[in-house]
Amino acid sequence: MNRSGSPVSVRDVDIRFDDFVAVRQANLDIAGGEFVCLLGPSGCGKSTLLNAIAGFVKPVGGEVTCAGARVTGPDVSRGVVFQSAEALFPWLTVRQNVDFGPRMRGVGKAQRASAVDRYLAMVGLSHSADRFPGQLSGGMRQRAQLARVLANEPSVVLMDEPFGALDAQTRLVMQVELDRIWRETGATIVFVTHDIGEAILLGDRIVTMTAGPSAAIKNVYPCDLPRPRDLTDPASAALFRQLREDIGTEVARTLRAQGLDDGHDGPDARQAAGRPADEDRRTRR
Ligand SMILES: Nc1ncnc2c1ncn2[C@@H]1O[C@H](COP(=O)(O)OP(=O)(O)OP(=O)(O)O)[C@@H](O)[C@H]1O
Ligand SMILES: [Mg+2]
Repeated sequence: MNRSGSPVSVRDVDIRFDDFVAVRQANLDIAGGEFVCLLGPSGCGKSTLLNAIAGFVKPVGGEVTCAGARVTGPDVSRGVVFQSAEALFPWLTVRQNVDFGPRMRGVGKAQRASAVDRYLAMVGLSHSADRFPGQLSGGMRQRAQLARVLANEPSVVLMDEPFGALDAQTRLVMQVELDRIWRETGATIVFVTHDIGEAILLGDRIVTMTAGPSAAIKNVYPCDLPRPRDLTDPASAALFRQLREDIGTEVARTLRAQGLDDGHDGPDARQAAGRPADEDRRTRR
């Protein structure tokens, strides 16, 4: 693989949907090849910000740049992996799905075949190349989606809760695989999640967002723990607590705004922010 990821810059970005201010004054500089996780309560604006980087959503103020050029719309150089694997074409085999982008771009047949083989091998799907998406497990579909994005050789990969629909075990496997693939490709990755553990396992930096409306970047946590990471080591556990506190405040604010909380940073908010239910029961005894 030849490339290194492009830097991405989010400058004073405001995003509105009619009168609704979704994101206000977001600022974030992402280095080429960096893995950044975006963490925040449900509905705060994570997907909206990611979609602005992808070029699907146009900011009303500020700008997003990628490799120094202003983002004005979607581009194959910024690949997007969605939470649901419905993005795959169900009538095409895995191989045909992965081949689709390069074929549309007019890449020659021989070059395409070797690239498709390489990316299928990278995501561990060589043996399922001739199956249709409907014949794959959820984890395999997400791998196929990732291979399809990688086949376009993007310099930036934008991932919106890509493992959100997977069971806990498959999710762990996919996290380890993604860590490896990221290092192999050198791409810049922006990864949206509301799973604090997932952010710690993967991110070079973890960016938290405030509750919406008018969501903003709240804090940026550098995470230079050695990889592969172990959530049970003391440094990871300390960061986990810090992030849980940070996000817990925003989750509580969201719940309060929705009339679902009594005004305290109660168990609902803490559980939503990642604290196991038992831990709450123990501390309340
Ligand atoms: N196309 C749209 N039109 C109007 N409002 C929108 C649109 N897209 C998002 N919003 C609103 O913007 C806010 C942020 O939504 P967004 O999808 O970015 O949240 P999120 O942080 O990704 O949440 P989740 O974790 O649940 O996916 C929400 O209040 C949502 O209702
Ligand atoms: Mg979202």
